[in-house]
Amino acid sequence: MRRITERAVHVTSITSQSQQDISASDSSDFTLFDAETTGNLTRDHIMKLAVGVTGAVLIKNFSARQDCDDIMAALETCEFGAYDEQVITPRIAKLGPAVNDLYSSGKLNEQYWEHCAQALRTRSTLLRGTDPMDLAVSRLREAWGGEVERARTGGKPMYAGLIREMTLGSRIHFDEITLEYPGTLDEIPASFLTFNWYLAMPAGGGETSVFRRRWRPADEQYQDGYGYLDAVVAGEPAATMAPEVGDAAIFDARNMHIVRPGVGPGRRVTVSFFLGITGRGPLEIWS
Ligand SMILES: [Fe+2]
Repeated sequence: MRRITERAVHVTSITSQSQQDISASDSSDFTLFDAETTGNLTRDHIMKLAVGVTGAVLIKNFSARQDCDDIMAALETCEFGAYDEQVITPRIAKLGPAVNDLYSSGKLNEQYWEHCAQALRTRSTLLRGTDPMDLAVSRLREAWGGEVERARTGGKPMYAGLIREMTLGSRIHFDEITLEYPGTLDEIPASFLTFNWYLAMPAGGGETSVFRRRWRPADEQYQDGYGYLDAVVAGEPAATMAPEVGDAAIFDARNMHIVRPGVGPGRRVTVSFFLGITGRGPLEIWS
């Protein structure tokens, strides 16, 4: 293939026969990896994330700020658990079971289902007597123009919708259930997106950066605790988002990503789950 050096050749400009062998990705500032901001999530956004031509989508005012404040007030009386603190440092508090804590011998253990029932009970009244996930799912359903269902494992619907506090940030990591916890999902989707709805944000910091870089086996040399050293994403394009309360963000969880620590007062709390496009058409969700 003929390579070109001109900057900013856009794919829409590739029309004539003589130009058909020009790849826009040869241009150094054309990365197909921008963070797009929208007030109105559409199916097209989800598809572009799924196929990897958008780095991240930040949805402004996914919910009213008041919804978030009401959920946060209701959470005051709820006790959070945490991811396994031997593995996940700094600590990430959460309400609800995650696959990584409760997967043993190729499947989710009994504790997972106990935590699931408990968390669904707690969550069911957090938004003025309703489940905040009902709001999130109904907005996603509208955007997708189709059904949104809980993913199944061994025929049973999985938990979807962790409430997580990540005020101290996260390490660079990726999430890929079929690689890390094979056999969990009954139906393998064609995408592995992650959805975060921001209920509370610290005064500063707390940004999310997503890198145009999926895990490779050779990356294990960079392993650092549950995550990876900065070197793993050196030189890679990144999509960075600074969400505000009420916003939501979606990106491909298989791309390396990091959450920066909060600066100043305030917690960083999200409703978080994964999102897959099934071959049948519905979106499936899990946490
Ligand atoms: Fe993650």
